[in-house]
Amino acid sequence: RKPVSLPRLQQMRAAGEKIAMLTAYDATLAAVADAAGVDCLLVGDSVGMVCQGLPSTVGVQLDTMAYHTASVARGLQRVQGTAWLVADLPYGSYAESREQALRSACQLMQAGAHMVKLEGGGWTVPTVAFLVERGIPVCAHLGLTPQTVHALGGYRVQGQGDQAARQLRADALALQDAGARLLVLEMVPALLAAEITDALAHCATIGIGAGRGTAGQVLVMHDMLGAHLGRVPRFVHDFLADAGSVRGAFEAYVRAVKDGRFPDDTRHAW
Ligand code: KIV
Ligand code: NA
Repeated sequence: RKPVSLPRLQQMRAAGEKIAMLTAYDATLAAVADAAGVDCLLVGDSVGMVCQGLPSTVGVQLDTMAYHTASVARGLQRVQGTAWLVADLPYGSYAESREQALRSACQLMQAGAHMVKLEGGGWTVPTVAFLVERGIPVCAHLGLTPQTVHALGGYRVQGQGDQAARQLRADALALQDAGARLLVLEMVPALLAAEITDALAHCATIGIGAGRGTAGQVLVMHDMLGAHLGRVPRFVHDFLADAGSVRGAFEAYVRAVKDGRFPDDTRHAW
């Protein structure tokens, strides 16, 4: 397989081929996911909850993200992997100024990321433009943004009601215009997520708890392997239970995303 690139992602989107993304935090599972055909790996700041046992992503440090990004990048290198590698800018690493965001992004890019992800709309638009102008691909993230869980009042569905939906649509368009080429939509009603997907010609949406109308899907790796510490979100499916092996679970996930069988109509957040 040829390495997944920005043009390739745009091509997949244009051809209607769904993009399969999983989170990854370590070299070995990243390599297994790559071999199973996962298009994009996300070193998510969910590492804080999944690997570090933190109560939210708020406590995750930039150095931690760089450590896990480097681990995943080495795993991909070892097997000549082809996955597109996205890394989360963690809490407090990009809000202070565009310059701070650039410094943080550079640290993750030098650790091996191909693209950085940041949460929120509005004030993030000039930051996204600043990074993109300097050659750093950016993935945006709207809807439920876990780094602002305390301001949002909990892990709940976003974009419900006319005004919230309008705001989300406007944020998505502005982020695309600023140069974001992927957009994670988390816990957003399916209809709204599909509308936003269709409205964005140059930015592919990746849904989680956002229905099946997005250009791609993402799940936290541990969740889809049935490994969890606490409550499991309703939109998660245990692919390992059916597949019987980790590699098989990743392959089943990729197939289900590509065929449009995941998520089914019961796998949503609302
Ligand atoms: O950190 C993470 O795992 C994420 C995905 C759930 C999109 O941001
Ligand atoms: Na994240």
